[in-house]
Amino acid sequence: MTRALVTGAASGIGAACAHRLAADGVHVIAVDFDADGLRAVARDGIEPVQADLSDLDRLGDLPTDVDILVNNAGIQQVAPIEQFPPERFGYILRLMLESPFRLIRQTLPYMYGRGWGRVVNISSVHGLRASPFKAAYVAAKHGLEGLSKVVALEGAPHGVTSNCVNPAYVRTPLVTAQLADQAATHGLTESEVLEKVMLEPVGVKRLIEPAEVAEVVALLCGPTSASLTGSSFVLDGGWTAH
Ligand SMILES: NC(=O)c1ccc[n+]([C@@H]2O[C@H](COP(=O)([O-])OP(=O)(O)OC[C@H]3O[C@@H](n4cnc5c(N)ncnc54)[C@H](O)[C@@H]3O)[C@@H](O)[C@H]2O)c1
Repeated sequence: MTRALVTGAASGIGAACAHRLAADGVHVIAVDFDADGLRAVARDGIEPVQADLSDLDRLGDLPTDVDILVNNAGIQQVAPIEQFPPERFGYILRLMLESPFRLIRQTLPYMYGRGWGRVVNISSVHGLRASPFKAAYVAAKHGLEGLSKVVALEGAPHGVTSNCVNPAYVRTPLVTAQLADQAATHGLTESEVLEKVMLEPVGVKRLIEPAEVAEVVALLCGPTSASLTGSSFVLDGGWTAH
């Protein structure tokens, strides 16, 4: 049976990926530090594992015998650079770039041994474009894009592909919390923040659903995916068409 490890699987995009891969008959190891969220996601075919993915020295405790690795866990922090807490910058790079590197590094030998593997990195439009006040997030996602391409080149002779998936704003707690915060900060309603701030550069004026992102992940892991590698699959409602 195909086995997958999905990080940040207790919520949002990660939970949708876990459900979507499990629906394809994949055994999913759902990793997150949110025990309650993991309990809600766990079901037949989804095995919860609680871990803090920013604790690099403990990542070696996670299963390495997986055919699919979805690097998804992530957080956001919004502040101008001169006020951006340096320790927070380091934490975000650790969680969203170093931890994926370590997980890829420790799972590739198993994939190489099987002659088949799929690495999917949940990047963002912010892996390809910058926005002000998101220095750590944009830096981490741009770094993830580079890492993913190197994995694609090294993995190709072994049947291992590596790609990024790049959504614009997705309807998850990461975004709905920002809606409330920004509404309070700007003195706007949440729907005004959505329209005037978040969806301003986007052609398709709605939030993306987590299941839409999971569908692309399933495609990248599916039977027609062998030549899909070293790429970034953009679901951004036209944002980067500008
Ligand atoms: N929501 C969006 O609009 C959007 C857009 C583009 C990219 N993304 C990316 O998608 C990914 C998932 O985001 P989401 O919107 O589903 O967020 P989310 O907040 O719904 O889920 C993130 C999950 O990561 C987990 N997590 C965070 N830090 C962790 C840690 N140290 N150890 C273990 N687990 C940890 C959280 O507990 C949570 O379950 C992120 O990488 C994010 O950057 C999101």
